[in-house]
Amino acid sequence: MKTLVLNTLGKEALDQVNALIKDKEVEVVDTSDMKIAHCMGCNQCWLKTPGICAIKDDYEKIIKKLVETENLWIVSDTRFGFLDYKGKRVMDRIMPMLNMTIGFRDGWMRHKLRYHALNIGLLYKGAADQAMMEDWCKRTAANIGGQSLGAIALDPQSAISSEARESPVMPGPIKHLVIINGSPRVAKFSNTDKIIHSFVKGLEETGITWELHNLSNRKEWDAAREAFLTHEHILIAFPLYVECVPSLMLEFLSTLPAERKVPGQLSFLLHGGMDEGNEFRLAERFLQKLPAQLGCSYGGTLIKGGSFRIRTTTDEERAKMVAPWPPMGKLFAQKGTFLTPETERFIGLEQYPWILRKLVSLLFLKKVNEEFDNFAKGWGCTRPLNDKPYVQ
Ligand SMILES: Cc1cc2nc3c(=O)[nH]c(=O)nc-3n(C[C@H](O)[C@H](O)[C@H](O)COP(=O)(O)O)c2cc1C
Repeated sequence: MKTLVLNTLGKEALDQVNALIKDKEVEVVDTSDMKIAHCMGCNQCWLKTPGICAIKDDYEKIIKKLVETENLWIVSDTRFGFLDYKGKRVMDRIMPMLNMTIGFRDGWMRHKLRYHALNIGLLYKGAADQAMMEDWCKRTAANIGGQSLGAIALDPQSAISSEARESPVMPGPIKHLVIINGSPRVAKFSNTDKIIHSFVKGLEETGITWELHNLSNRKEWDAAREAFLTHEHILIAFPLYVECVPSLMLEFLSTLPAERKVPGQLSFLLHGGMDEGNEFRLAERFLQKLPAQLGCSYGGTLIKGGSFRIRTTTDEERAKMVAPWPPMGKLFAQKGTFLTPETERFIGLEQYPWILRKLVSLLFLKKVNEEFDNFAKGWGCTRPLNDKPYVQ
């Protein structure tokens, strides 16, 4: 098993990479001029062609290498104190290394591994939050059964501390809300879209108007940017992708100027596949510091897990799954922020205690995993969900 380095910085970082990574069998892949698209969350690699990504680009070569890799290093530039979109993108595309089936591992709800554990490390350039980078490595590695190899600043002078920056809360009631769906999945199939449409029912009760822009459609980016810059209240709703913001959304954010035409308050609605609140805490930390870097105050983050099945379940179950969101829409309209005790409670359990893990595995996950199997069959999947297409 070898060490693979995905160098999104290209030639400029090569000497440092060679000096820092001294494992016996190392392969450095320069991804800077490779054709690599953002994961679009289509789920084909889990539910239609298990282990095979639907996007036919240069990442296919990388997946074939990952199957023989034990240690994976990402070499990346930074933005907003975190990986830039190019570094995050090569991790978001790693999904075929996991499979759809969910179970508990080391006390946490996780996807099962398709092949083997991967250790993850990070070499980063520029100003980033060192503590957050280290935590991201730990969390991402744990998701794929491995250990963190550490997060190393290529220029230690530029690392920044993990202290949250002060950002004033914007007073004033919300009259109009700009909502941006940050999911890379086309709106028609996006769970975020279903959550947004449920959330706005609560907003509408109070007479607030709203508009929606979808980042999955690049043609909507100009309008989304203009709305972001010219309105006071903005809500970005998005799914958790590999412990943080999807790379596509990071790319959009990096096109926004730091200066605004009008004062703004930026709030977030964050959801994801896993149930446990702890899953979302690193992303929450990232979001707390993001608005100040875009000239906005922070309006809080409303978080809830367990959203994966909105897409795969029955209409009746889906209606139940989105039912908690309208009251939160109404509350947001009344309070003007998510910085409320109700928001803190909405996230639910941080971690399932031991006895609940047993019960959830027996009574719920078995049913859920069968539901995934059936959904896959409906999509014409002919292989088992834990198939290993790249192993002879
Ligand atoms: C590339 C990728 C990475 C993901 N990473 C996580 C994760 O780290 N934690 C989690 O709970 N869910 C994760 N998910 C699940 C999504 O957050 C979840 O399926 C969500 O409901 C998708 O919303 P959407 O349909 O609007 O895209 C991931 C999904 C994808 C495609």
